[in-house]
Amino acid sequence: MSSTIEELETPEVLVDREQLLANIARAQKIAEAHGLRLRPHVKTHKCVEIAQLQLANGASGLTASKVDEALVFIDAGITQSLTLAYPVVDRRKLDRLFGSAARKSVDVRLTVDSSAGIDAAAAAAKSAGLPVSVFVKIDVGLHRCGLAENSGDLLDLIGRIGADAHLRFAGLLSHAGHAYAAQNPEEIAAIAADEVCTLQRVRERIEAANIAVPEVSVGSTPTVLAGRSFAGVTEIRPGNYVFLDATAVRLGIARTENVALNVLATVISANAQHFIVDAGSKVLSSDLGAHGTAAPGYGLAYPVEIDGTNALKVVRLSEEHGFVKRGEIDLPIGAKLRIIPNHSCPVANLAERLTIVSRGDVVDQWRVAARAKVR
Ligand SMILES: Cc1ncc(COP(=O)(O)O)c(C=O)c1O
Repeated sequence: MSSTIEELETPEVLVDREQLLANIARAQKIAEAHGLRLRPHVKTHKCVEIAQLQLANGASGLTASKVDEALVFIDAGITQSLTLAYPVVDRRKLDRLFGSAARKSVDVRLTVDSSAGIDAAAAAAKSAGLPVSVFVKIDVGLHRCGLAENSGDLLDLIGRIGADAHLRFAGLLSHAGHAYAAQNPEEIAAIAADEVCTLQRVRERIEAANIAVPEVSVGSTPTVLAGRSFAGVTEIRPGNYVFLDATAVRLGIARTENVALNVLATVISANAQHFIVDAGSKVLSSDLGAHGTAAPGYGLAYPVEIDGTNALKVVRLSEEHGFVKRGEIDLPIGAKLRIIPNHSCPVANLAERLTIVSRGDVVDQWRVAARAKVR
């Protein structure tokens, strides 16, 4: 293992240890200030070592999207509860998940928004002999998954969960991913407030039918970092906050120096308009920001230290090449750039490992153990 950043072969995904710890502490502090449990979403880092740091800093458990992603953390020996914040409807996947959860005594909590999801959960829970908590997902504005606030199916679905011998109604779960389309922290705070009010109204509707709502789970990095009130919420599930990225900087919820992940790349050629670097879409991804938000390019490149100034823009990508628009400075072939990507989550998913750096030195390398676990 190389000992300094300069000695590393590129492209390499770097994670700054001090900034990672600061980001983990920032969300934990928010959770504690509002009396909330923090169940960080592991889809951002897909890395067991980072999950262990989150748990050591006070997280109550983890959140995952896909079953095979969750299994990496369960099989690695993480025994705290795990929320699967994704509506799985294929029973075979749940059999796999519950088999491991039962062996390792992990409390897995599912998310549903359809009868098909409840049927799959009930069948798998029965055959595993496990009691399983089930969240019902509410659509608070992203219009992706979840029941609409006034859905006529809501009480029926909750009733079906309650009537099943192996399932228990855990409460409501939402994800305000549309906050990524906001222009500034005030707009994000308004979306967060709207989410809290929507969930409060849904909760009152359910309680009016004499059904208790034990938990209300929300979570996106923008609404957690910019939200002001979490009234009625019991847990938050941000993911991206551990690394942050150029999108978080654009939204005004972080400064460039708060971003813990960047891609170290080398200038391998140059022409009149561009420096060409060795990180293309297979490293940076072609992502324009979470939920398809429209960044003006593919990342911010900094020649030496990331200090928030003098950013060059990655304006085009091919698979193995990045096109960095020339600025005022000249860079020799072989110069190194640190690129803050638009969206850290797919960058981590594309990497085999994360190289952990501290004050310019390489201190560790961690496997992205759940990379490409998309089933
Ligand atoms: C259901 C759900 N919960 C939580 C999150 C975490 O959001 P973020 O990455 O903005 O922190 C996501 C992200 O896509 C999600 O889909």
